[in-house]
Amino acid sequence: MRTDNHAKRILLGISGGIAAYKAPLVVRKLRNLGADVVPVLTQNATRFVTETALQAVADNRPRTDLWDAEAEAAMGHIELARWADAVVIAPATANVIARLAHGIADDLLTTLYLATTAPVFVAPAMNVRMWEHVATQRNLERLRDDGVTVLGPADGEQACGEFGPGRMIEPDEIAEKVTAAISTRVLDGTRVLITAGPTREFLDPVRFISNRSSGRQGFALAEAARDAGAEVTLVAGPVHLSTPTGIERIDVVSAQEMKDAVTQRAPDADIFVSVAAVADYRPHTVHDQKLKKSQQPSTDFRVALKENEDIVGSIAGVEPRPFVVGFAAETENPLEHAREKRRRKCMDAIVVNDVSDAAIGFDSSDNAVTLIHAGGEMGLPKMRKGAIARRLVDEIATLYASAGRGS
Ligand code: CTP
Repeated sequence: MRTDNHAKRILLGISGGIAAYKAPLVVRKLRNLGADVVPVLTQNATRFVTETALQAVADNRPRTDLWDAEAEAAMGHIELARWADAVVIAPATANVIARLAHGIADDLLTTLYLATTAPVFVAPAMNVRMWEHVATQRNLERLRDDGVTVLGPADGEQACGEFGPGRMIEPDEIAEKVTAAISTRVLDGTRVLITAGPTREFLDPVRFISNRSSGRQGFALAEAARDAGAEVTLVAGPVHLSTPTGIERIDVVSAQEMKDAVTQRAPDADIFVSVAAVADYRPHTVHDQKLKKSQQPSTDFRVALKENEDIVGSIAGVEPRPFVVGFAAETENPLEHAREKRRRKCMDAIVVNDVSDAAIGFDSSDNAVTLIHAGGEMGLPKMRKGAIARRLVDEIATLYASAGRGS
């Protein structure tokens, strides 16, 4: 089992209903959001989903049996119950809900439920009549009284052909709800301003200079900061991403527009995270009409450029100012360049990634970064951009607090 000190540790209980075939997806979604997941299957669950599939996606050995001497020797069930930051049971059948409600501990999953002090979430999945049965509703009421969070179920067509409530809510919804509920609110009460995406610098009405930034890392950071309790304003360049709920989004196109939006809002921000890949230059002249090839030289056509103002530098260089974190995408000597950039732009911290590696960076959903600050450097290995974001938010919150700015 990996010993990642910061990742949220989740025991994913899987009970024996048809929705168990979605359990590997639940594991993946949780891991995408930065969690370390140990699947725990009931005997009946093993009829619907294989341990091999779960092992592959979780990268942790699934547990099924209270009496597995080898697994118990590696980590006993009481230790496992203590290890968890949360227990999620998805799908939760009517039977497992009944056993949990009555404190019956007759297998590994139900024993772990009694032994843990971590928050517990259940995502029910069953036939609509079973869901509506007074016994099931009574058991759920009891679980709610015991502090268990019930996620769903959703309405719709069921595997048995009936319609109505009883479908397990979708894996991404489960992962998001659980992660949001257990994320430590390290940024409670803070206002965070984030820039994301590229900028476009127009040459004429149809042509522009831009870059490959997708905006995904900035958007992931905005979500992670929101989940950590911050009030988030996201200034976004042109990107194909939907606005995360609970976040104020301001769309801009050019570096100048981005600078104006940031300058206006920075005085209200406690933390400014400049993730945007701001174009360094813009065309000297922006033509009103589309440039005609016939009017240009056929060889050696030149476009005069002028430098854009440095947004992060303009914010970091003037007191009073928010806590400032920059980003740097580099293709060579990433650490050296980033250290120099941090000093030059007076940033409190900088996050650097090596975009020459195609497996991380621009178009990838993964990233690997190093966070550099005055007191040291910390590398985060390749993981989902969402996971990187959560880890960075934790680190930024710690740095912000130790700079005497946070709580
Ligand atoms: N940045 C900014 N305004 C600019 C250019 C960059 O705020 N006009 C910010 C970016 O959002 C990022 C940091 O500065 O947080 C570093 O960006 P980068 O383009 O790597 O820095 P440059 O100084 O432009 O360095 P390079 O010569 O490598 O392009």
